[in-house]
Amino acid sequence: MNTPRGKKVCIVGASGKLGQYMVRHALGRGYEVVGVCRERSVGKLDAFRGRMTVMPGQTNDREVIKKAVAGCDGVLTVLVPWGRSQYSTGTAQAVLDYARPGARLIFSCGWHITRDGKDVYPRSMKREEMVARWLGRLTRMVDIDDQVEACRRVFASDTRWTVVRGSDLEEGESQGLPVWSRHVGDPILESNITRRVDFALFMVAALENDELVHEAPAIVGCQTPSALAAKAGGQGPA
Ligand SMILES: NC(=O)c1ccc[n+]([C@@H]2O[C@H](COP(=O)([O-])OP(=O)(O)OC[C@H]3O[C@@H](n4cnc5c(N)ncnc54)[C@H](OP(=O)(O)O)[C@@H]3O)[C@@H](O)[C@H]2O)c1
Repeated sequence: MNTPRGKKVCIVGASGKLGQYMVRHALGRGYEVVGVCRERSVGKLDAFRGRMTVMPGQTNDREVIKKAVAGCDGVLTVLVPWGRSQYSTGTAQAVLDYARPGARLIFSCGWHITRDGKDVYPRSMKREEMVARWLGRLTRMVDIDDQVEACRRVFASDTRWTVVRGSDLEEGESQGLPVWSRHVGDPILESNITRRVDFALFMVAALENDELVHEAPAIVGCQTPSALAAKAGGQGPA
């Protein structure tokens, strides 16, 4: 693994739970960190004051992103389906347009995003997604299709992207780097749970892992029963 010494990364959505974990991992690895978060959320990053640069603003504000990603070797973007104003799409497009050529771009989403349609989802997940879509339209608070479109644009881009697809998440101490598969439905993922701190670890580690360029890994905690069973059977990414 290359040393990140002297490298600068931008974390888009730095004030959220995943974002704060990513800030911690990135600082711990010696990156210079720039974080973008909504103005009202700047206080959530107080613990890192003096150790990172915070740029307040909506993450889909192209001018904010343009400034924030300038000179960055990597950009870690939290894609969220909130609101009905193309927040995810606007955020992803701004990062794709303004990150410097050759920068590593890592995006977060959930298992529900599929790159090639070959994921096999449990029925319960399909039901949950249908309900989320329906409720999202009704309340105008969630737009799953916008997150889908954001990822479609990332997949179609010729940047050095990785889209990390998270399982269900839980809080707790780190268990180590999650394991992954190209497709949901792979038995290695069956436990469907990852510590949020380790989701963030996978995102930050991906910056220096070229094997993940143009991959959309679906991840699961490395200490979950399904991951341990796959390890015992000698299974790697499939
Ligand atoms: N939660 C899960 O179980 C789960 C499962 C699989 C994958 N994921 C993926 O994991 C990533 C982070 O999820 P998380 O649950 O851990 O959330 P999180 O880190 O707490 O992130 C939420 C983000 O959304 C922003 N946000 C909240 N309300 C918003 C609004 N109305 N408009 C715009 N931005 C808003 C937050 O910014 P502020 O700090 O400004 O509020 C924060 O940056 C996402 O990519 C998600 O798709 C989540």
